[in-house]
Amino acid sequence: MISFAEHRARFLELLTQERAAAVVATSPHRIRNHDAEYRFRPDSDFWWLTGFAEPESVLVLLPALTAETRPRTVLFLREKDRERETWTGRRLGVTAATAKLGIDEARRIENLWTDLPQLLKGYERIVHRTGIDEARDREMLAVFAKLRATAKAASPPPVALLDPAPMLHELRLFKDASELDTMRRAARITRDAHVAAMRTAKPGVNEREIDALLDATFRRLGGTGAAYTNIVAGGANATILHYVLNDQPLRDGDLLLVDAGSEVDWYASDVTRTFPVNGRFTAEQRAVYQVVLDAQLAAIDAVRPGAAFDAPHERALEKLCAGLVDLGIVDGTAAEVLAAEGFKRFYMHRTSHWLGLDVHDCGAYLANGSARALEPGMVLTIEPGLYFAEDDAAIDARWRGIGVRIEDDVLVTREGHEVLTRGIPKTVDEIEAACAGRVPALSGA
Ligand code: GLY
Ligand code: MN
Ligand code: MN
Repeated sequence: MISFAEHRARFLELLTQERAAAVVATSPHRIRNHDAEYRFRPDSDFWWLTGFAEPESVLVLLPALTAETRPRTVLFLREKDRERETWTGRRLGVTAATAKLGIDEARRIENLWTDLPQLLKGYERIVHRTGIDEARDREMLAVFAKLRATAKAASPPPVALLDPAPMLHELRLFKDASELDTMRRAARITRDAHVAAMRTAKPGVNEREIDALLDATFRRLGGTGAAYTNIVAGGANATILHYVLNDQPLRDGDLLLVDAGSEVDWYASDVTRTFPVNGRFTAEQRAVYQVVLDAQLAAIDAVRPGAAFDAPHERALEKLCAGLVDLGIVDGTAAEVLAAEGFKRFYMHRTSHWLGLDVHDCGAYLANGSARALEPGMVLTIEPGLYFAEDDAAIDARWRGIGVRIEDDVLVTREGHEVLTRGIPKTVDEIEAACAGRVPALSGA
């Protein structure tokens, strides 16, 4: 069980040091078209602090300003309403909220903007993320104005609006044991979805069918769904990094790149596997695949406490450059290709990002201007690739249209690392066995 109370306590400790209060809102409803909404997904900061997934809710965290007072948390949420609940779903309601969520006080969401000036009185700084909901930003500025207008010498108005990144997002960057259990569960479901894709893909099957199979597997096995839009890219579609149309028939002799991860309790996994549509790599596909796999394994090996965040990327680049030279795709030595960035035409993204509630999770990448050191509890992806455009006249025709990426999720541990997404077929032999249906469909997620 994730301890949201512990998360709130940790954030309140930092807020106390800063003499700051925080106002953390969940996501707004998002319209897909006309009046049809996307399925609601809570804001990650808000979820991390509350474990509450209803829309129209705002958490206010108020650290103690004096030795005599205690820190307080106030949740604004929708009141129970029989008629509205008939239309849009069940509500927790104000009365049940404190006991259920361990919050000190619950109030109706309609009172948020009238109550806030009083609640925020006396705090020098207010933490609030702007730029998500313009109407909410305007209301926050009005609260600031009101606090200024009513300030007394004994309780001066706030002087700064702070972004949550330096405090809250640094906390979220380090995953505790229960968060990691959740991420391992997401990884197991993702394993089963990728194995299902390998078993099902064959010439004539449409990318759309694999896309649907991934979504079905993510939800059938207990996840909230896909952590991000699935990428199901057959043949040269794999050379388009964010290909999400997923609507083309798979062709005999092509590779299929699947970048898809399940989300469990709103925690993401993020995995890419690339495998042959007909179950057998061609010589060229296998050669490119092996270069990317060697780069990925070397990068994973570089994940350990104290290593720079960039170290895995640098290891991957060395291997990719050596591979490009060995395959005869680029001229010169590996060191020359690396120095001149001759790899960029075929590897144009970076190797890692943080992973957590958000697929590109929060947390700074730099400390004092350079790549920060890895520390236990951080989770990052390792995802090198090589992409040869189908119209790249500068390379031999046999490489054109091949796109390979291999991506796993890696936890930094005290001893080194743990690959959370291990057990998903990855070597050439494992992949060909999975495509032939010789790998168990379920891991028992
Ligand atoms: N699936 C998004 C990424 O790999 O970063
Ligand atoms: Mn990724
Ligand atoms: Mn990915």
